[in-house]
Amino acid sequence: MRVLIGDDEGQRGGGGDLTDDDLVALYAAPRTPWFRVNMVSTLDGSATGATGRTGEINNAADKRVFHLLRRMADVIVVGAGTARAEGYGPALRPTVLVSRSAEVPEALRRAEPGRVLMATVSHAERLDEARALLGDEHVLVLGSHRVDLGGLRAALVARGHRSLLGEGGPHLLRDLLDRGVVDELAATVVPRLVAGTHPRITDGPPLDVHLRLHLLLEHEGTLLGRWLV
Ligand SMILES: NC(=O)c1ccc[n+]([C@@H]2O[C@H](COP(=O)([O-])OP(=O)(O)OC[C@H]3O[C@@H](n4cnc5c(N)ncnc54)[C@H](OP(=O)(O)O)[C@@H]3O)[C@@H](O)[C@H]2O)c1
Repeated sequence: MRVLIGDDEGQRGGGGDLTDDDLVALYAAPRTPWFRVNMVSTLDGSATGATGRTGEINNAADKRVFHLLRRMADVIVVGAGTARAEGYGPALRPTVLVSRSAEVPEALRRAEPGRVLMATVSHAERLDEARALLGDEHVLVLGSHRVDLGGLRAALVARGHRSLLGEGGPHLLRDLLDRGVVDELAATVVPRLVAGTHPRITDGPPLDVHLRLHLLLEHEGTLLGRWLV
């Protein structure tokens, strides 16, 4: 993996294969708290492969950065739909599910206390069940009908989480951007074309967010960017 575009001369230099330590330095947050969202898509914009899962399109370079960003994070924030679609199990870092229904995905129901949190609303259909499964203190009620995503960021920071990592999905990313909660989009573009009708990395009502390229890495045609919001 090599740097194509960096923010300063130090980042551009070298040109050789980046070590994990190099990547940690290149992906360092400029300040904390910092909310980064990491997504992947094909060159023709698909956020999934043919069967609707991201696992079909991410490759070794994307996985390397995906796992590195998890290690660098204090907490992972993910839409409940993504956790269901991707079969999320307990991760290296505590996982915060964002959900209007408060339904805890099957593979996360028996996680150790505190490994899974739920951010939801007071009208959620499965609120009592989520509390019973995860523990009252791990269920954050942030609004009555819509999850207050700014409030979620503030609540996680108040719990001591300085480095927040979002992993989608497309609806949650769109809503986080709409609420002005995201500092950075880490986006991988894999050199594949899949045609068909698939979600992009954002979904839902239109928005128009301008980004600033901070870093661009390349490995065998895969492009990995850091885009500041
Ligand atoms: N390419 C990538 O990097 C990437 C990353 C992640 C996911 N994906 C793919 O994207 C697809 C899923 O897309 P999606 O847009 O449906 O996933 P999503 O954003 O995770 O949203 C689906 C569900 O998450 C919850 N949710 C999302 N936004 C919310 C909000 N603002 N407030 C409250 N709850 C919210 C809701 O859960 P409840 O139904 O429980 O209320 C909603 O039904 C899957 O195929 C997955 O593999 C791709």
